[in-house]
Amino acid sequence: MADRKVIAVVGATGSQGSGLVRAIQADPSGGFVARAITRDAGSEKARALAALGAEVVAADLADEASLARAFDGAHGAYCVTFFWDHMSPERELAEAGRLARAAKSAAVSHAIWSTLEDTRLRVPLSDDRMPTLGGKYKVPHFDAKGEGDALFAASGVPVTYLLTSFYWDNLVSFGMGPKPGADGTLTFTLPMGKAKLAGIAAKDIGACAYGVFKRGTEFIGKRVGICGGQLTGDEMAAAMTRAFGREVKYNAIEPAVYRGFGFPGADDLGNMFQYYRDFEREFCAARDPALARALDPGLLSFDSWLAQNKHSIPLA
Ligand SMILES: NC(=O)c1ccc[n+]([C@@H]2O[C@H](COP(=O)([O-])OP(=O)(O)OC[C@H]3O[C@@H](n4cnc5c(N)ncnc54)[C@H](OP(=O)(O)O)[C@@H]3O)[C@@H](O)[C@H]2O)c1
Repeated sequence: MADRKVIAVVGATGSQGSGLVRAIQADPSGGFVARAITRDAGSEKARALAALGAEVVAADLADEASLARAFDGAHGAYCVTFFWDHMSPERELAEAGRLARAAKSAAVSHAIWSTLEDTRLRVPLSDDRMPTLGGKYKVPHFDAKGEGDALFAASGVPVTYLLTSFYWDNLVSFGMGPKPGADGTLTFTLPMGKAKLAGIAAKDIGACAYGVFKRGTEFIGKRVGICGGQLTGDEMAAAMTRAFGREVKYNAIEPAVYRGFGFPGADDLGNMFQYYRDFEREFCAARDPALARALDPGLLSFDSWLAQNKHSIPLA
């Protein structure tokens, strides 16, 4: 174990981080060992990671010194922020800065920053196709991450920018799965017209990150875009029809209708889907399923993700 390089994983008990910890610990001859970072080393999820052989260390994104301690002596650091825990892009950006500086001060050899596009580079605030949110954002949870890229670059830490994709797991945990309509037919609603959505099984983000760490310096300073597949709403509905053995219809609505759903973050997500739709070509081109599969040979397709997860998708 002493000769194995430590990868310190922020968000280790969450979707992205746990995928990385599990990928590292499932490959004992890979030369790496995971250090799972959590706010509560005694939680059930943290203890489950310790049971896999990961070291468990406490740190908080609000406390830069705690992050620097948690990264100390590590070869690599997986850096991710948690927008939906607080829904503040300013806070997310501040957290990105703390992560970048802590990784630099701990002198890690390789940080991975889990990022997304700054949509304002394609949809400036003056573009009224979608509303400006919070005074200076179009898609707040994208824009803050994209803005965070510059903080990693400025820190001087060797970094790979990992462009993630829509989690198919949102069908389970974010209430985005199909719902029965008035006639009982399952209806899958997305404001994306006929555009393709680049998606991924959340656990594969961590597994791809492990592939990036294993490639050494190959991707340092580069952007690596990953997805498990790129499917239209009709294609996703057809896959669900096959998986459930019950018809699922795609219901394409306008982004403005989605923004009006009124749940917290509906405006952010409505703008996000509109960005996916309006910049389908650029968004999909930036995410290469073949590269993702090369990094993560166990990468799931939407069909294989459905086969594993269909019983967890609430259909009511
Ligand atoms: N949903 C999607 O489709 C999608 C797609 C691409 C990107 N994303 C982005 O993914 C990010 C979230 O990543 P995730 O899904 O892996 O998160 P997650 O599953 O919600 O996990 C969050 C974990 O982070 C830890 N955490 C929360 N606040 C923390 C803090 N202040 N300091 C240290 N640790 C903290 C928590 O662990 P403890 O309680 O153990 O500390 C928690 O288990 C979001 O920013 C989102 O925008 C989401």
